Amino acid sequence: MKRRIGILTSGGDCPGLNAAIRGVTRAAYEMFDAEIVGIHDGYRGLIEGDYQAMKRSDFSGILTLGGTILGTARTPFRDMRKIGEDKVDKVAAMKKTYKDLKLDCLVTLGGNGTHKTANLLSQEGLNVIGLPKTIDNDIYGTDFTFGFHTALDIATDVIDRCHTTAASHGRCIVVEIMGNKAGWLTLYSGVAGGADAILIPEIPYDIKKVAKVVESRAKSNKGFTILAVAEGAMDKEEAKMKKKEREAKRAAEHFSASAYVAQQLRELVGVEARNVVPGHIQRGGSPNAYDRVLSTQFGVHAAELIRDGVFGVTVALKGNEITHNKLADIAGVPKLVPEDDRMVKTAKNMGIIFGDED
Ligand code: F6P
Repeated sequence: MKRRIGILTSGGDCPGLNAAIRGVTRAAYEMFDAEIVGIHDGYRGLIEGDYQAMKRSDFSGILTLGGTILGTARTPFRDMRKIGEDKVDKVAAMKKTYKDLKLDCLVTLGGNGTHKTANLLSQEGLNVIGLPKTIDNDIYGTDFTFGFHTALDIATDVIDRCHTTAASHGRCIVVEIMGNKAGWLTLYSGVAGGADAILIPEIPYDIKKVAKVVESRAKSNKGFTILAVAEGAMDKEEAKMKKKEREAKRAAEHFSASAYVAQQLRELVGVEARNVVPGHIQRGGSPNAYDRVLSTQFGVHAAELIRDGVFGVTVALKGNEITHNKLADIAGVPKLVPEDDRMVKTAKNMGIIFGDED
């Protein structure tokens, strides 16, 4: 059986992309007569016809490599159907590249935006298989995305390191964890790093409630506080605003989420507060063992689906099972932290506050 497979990585990168590419391609070479075309920089490459024929050796030695050997770019889904100044019909261009390359299927590795476009291409008649990657872990229908656990290790290490210096100085350190809409990474790293407060976008906070905890810790023999704050965390007033209004407010004040919290705590409690933003470090470097395994499992399952002619799906982890969901069922459905999530309950029962209640 001969299969020509196009493969691309789209959206923000994360550790494990190369491990997943390796998983798909190695399993495909093992299981059938595979020809692989690597598409550069995600959907941009598919639109512009920027690709290269790959050989088996191109996928050797990349298991531990961070980033993506194919390159990536953000090509927003909302623009896919829009004809811009360049007059390019992007959907037609992608279909043409697929056809010109005589592909039997397209494998897309990406997050929510990538999956929306994958679903669009599937509805347009292309054979598409998705692989869910993102450090945000916010793709519906899978317990975990690859990249999440490595970012979790990094974010936890940052919190650990802030812990010791905060303790030495009796300071309050506000660690800003990536995640604009979804607070999974902040929630898990906050628990793993033993934070005193976890502030996530899904649970708007009242700074006075946070200040109370900081104050009581400052007066106790501990004397320091660690806060894990998501990039997209917002207080109850900001939560009432429209997204654009909120962003404009933050931009005018030159505040990131953590800088804003630290500033308010300085004013309200008079503590020495510092904010730390590890930023893209959380997306860099080698995947950890968990993500190498998950990426490989996802990649191999994608190759099995190609072999079996199952398309219009994205692979997923449910419990201990590697399975798949229909693209149409998960595209455009972000997986946010529910207020009654088990990990939120675990944290609250440990005395970690979210700033929503006393
Ligand atoms: O989706 C992953 C992510 O790292 C988010 O956590 C973050 O909000 C965003 O990407 C940052 O995007 P960019 O890499 O475009 O700055």
